[in-house]
Amino acid sequence: MKDGYDGTGPGEFTPDGCAVDLYARLPVRDEPEIIAAAQPPPATLLELGAGAGRVTRALTTWGYEVTAVDESPEMLEHITDVRTVCSSIEDLDLPDRYDVVLLSSFLVHAPDPAVRAALLDTCRRHVNPGGVVLIQREGRDWHERVPRDSKAGDGIARALSSDDLGDGTRSIRFEYVFPDATWTQVFRSRPLTPEQFEEALSGAGLVLDRYLTPDGIWACCRVAG
Ligand SMILES: C[S@@+](CC[C@H](N)C(=O)[O-])C[C@H]1O[C@@H](n2cnc3c(N)ncnc32)[C@H](O)[C@@H]1O
Repeated sequence: MKDGYDGTGPGEFTPDGCAVDLYARLPVRDEPEIIAAAQPPPATLLELGAGAGRVTRALTTWGYEVTAVDESPEMLEHITDVRTVCSSIEDLDLPDRYDVVLLSSFLVHAPDPAVRAALLDTCRRHVNPGGVVLIQREGRDWHERVPRDSKAGDGIARALSSDDLGDGTRSIRFEYVFPDATWTQVFRSRPLTPEQFEEALSGAGLVLDRYLTPDGIWACCRVAG
């Protein structure tokens, strides 16, 4: 696992501490509705960090032609009937361009600014000239509102703590409690103000088009110029 990341519980884990068996059982939420508000189906869609296909399956049902990318082969094993690519997002270099590129799960908050720049660069390189890059950001008080619980299928997702590491990054601890299993995850985040987010977009040749949700969590971006 990467330095600063950890995971405990049954089954396999990704380098960033995600439990494969956990993500395989988590249900989709309102992601398809939010995505469709920016670009309705039919459309080609590149999903970066697709995990075990939690959102992928629903998007396919909605009529998107999805290509699912993840660096974890164990995660991708859960995705069937959809093109999968096992790769780090940073190194991705596909020949195709997509109507929608999706960078969700707060991956834009990568603690290393160089990694964040590489993730955004991959988004720009793979989107059609008139397409959209949809990015999921942390909510405004994401790090302050701890501990907090939310429903996760028949379990509970609990944000336990968010500790300031003093260098602009934070260490976050989550636990997922189900009737039959418990998982924990520790990961890192670099919070971004809206201004810092727009600056990061600009550095990658992207521009904010609009926020798709009133909480500013989902951003619709386009190629600049
Ligand atoms: C928190 S999980 C979320 C999975 C899926 N997006 C979902 O919402 O169910 C994050 C996923 O992103 C993948 N991931 C994280 N960083 C990555 C990177 N740099 N390149 C490729 N995959 C990455 C992990 O392997 C993991 O499967």
